[in-house]
Amino acid sequence: MARTKLLLDCDPGLDDALALLLAHSDPSLELVAVTTVGGNVDLASTTRNARALREYLGFVDVPIAAGAAEPLVRIAANAAHVHGEAGLGNVRLPAATLPASDRHAVDLIIETLRAAPGEVHLVATGPLTNIALALAREPRIAGWSASFVIMGGSFTRGNATVAAEFNIYADPEAAAAVFAAGWQVVMIGLDLTLQAIATPRIVDRMRRLGPLGADFVVPLATFWADPNDADWSGQAVHDVCAVAYIARPELFRSRSARVDVETQGQFTSGMTVVDFAASAPNAIVPVEIDVAGFWDYVHDAWQHAADGHPND
Ligand code: BDR
Ligand code: CA
Repeated sequence: MARTKLLLDCDPGLDDALALLLAHSDPSLELVAVTTVGGNVDLASTTRNARALREYLGFVDVPIAAGAAEPLVRIAANAAHVHGEAGLGNVRLPAATLPASDRHAVDLIIETLRAAPGEVHLVATGPLTNIALALAREPRIAGWSASFVIMGGSFTRGNATVAAEFNIYADPEAAAAVFAAGWQVVMIGLDLTLQAIATPRIVDRMRRLGPLGADFVVPLATFWADPNDADWSGQAVHDVCAVAYIARPELFRSRSARVDVETQGQFTSGMTVVDFAASAPNAIVPVEIDVAGFWDYVHDAWQHAADGHPND
C-alpha cells in the first residue's frame, strides 16, 4: 500500500523531535523532507538538532533544509526556557556527519510540493515563517499540498501569553498570511494537544521500548518535570499530535471554523480568533482526541522504530 507522504517544517524542540520520530517510524507514513525554522531555539540549533536526529533515528535519505532565522517583521522570541538551551532538553545526540541541503527551506518546500501535486501533506510544528515565505513566492503551493496541518494556536487561551500560543506568537504576521492563503488549515491547537499529555503511566509504557525509549523518548517527554515527583501530572507532546493527524485523522473530532490571527493587540498579539459559527470557514479545528487510541497508535509506531533502532 502506498505510504502517505509528508514534509515536516519544524523547530526541534523536544516535541518536534518526538514528532520527527513518529513521522519516521509509522510505516504508513513517508517522511519526504524536513525543513527547519528558528523558533524554540535559534535556526542554527534547530537545524543542528534536525541533522543529528536524522542520523540517530536513521532517516538518512531525507533532505533537511534550513529556512528563516527570524520572523517576518519581529524580533525573534525563543522557548529555550522550555526546551533547554540546545533545544533537546538533556538529550545529547552525536554530532551529525551529513550536511544540510544547499537549498533554502522555502525552495525545498515549493519544489517538493510542485513535484507531486496533491500527494504531499505539509505539516508545520514551528513558527510559520517558512510557510508564509513559500506562499509569497509560490501561492500555488496552497493547492499542491495534499493537506496543511499546523501545531499552533488555541481557541481558549495561550501558553506564550495568556492569549497566544508560542508558534503563532513567535510570528503572527506569518501566521496571518498563512491562514489567509485560501487553503484549509488544520489547526491542532493547545486545547487539543493538552488532552493527550504524556502522563507518568504513558512514560512508563515508553520506557519499556528499550534504549530508544529510555535514552530518547522518556528524557524528551519528562524534561519539564521530575516524573518521580508525586505531583507531576505529565508533559505535553504538542507536535506529535500534528503528525498523528496525518496518519490517523479518525482519532480526532473536528469542527470547521474561521480563524484570524491578531497582529495588533497590546495584550493579544498572536492570538488565534476562532469563530466556529462563521459562514466562510478557512480552517478545520480538531477539538477532541481519542486519547487512548492516540497513545496506542504512537506507542506502536515508536515500538516499530525501537525494534529497528540502529543504537539498540
Ligand atoms: C509549540 O511551541 C513549541 O514550544 C513546541 O515545540 C510546540 O510546537 C507549543 O506551543
Ligand atoms: Ca515545535
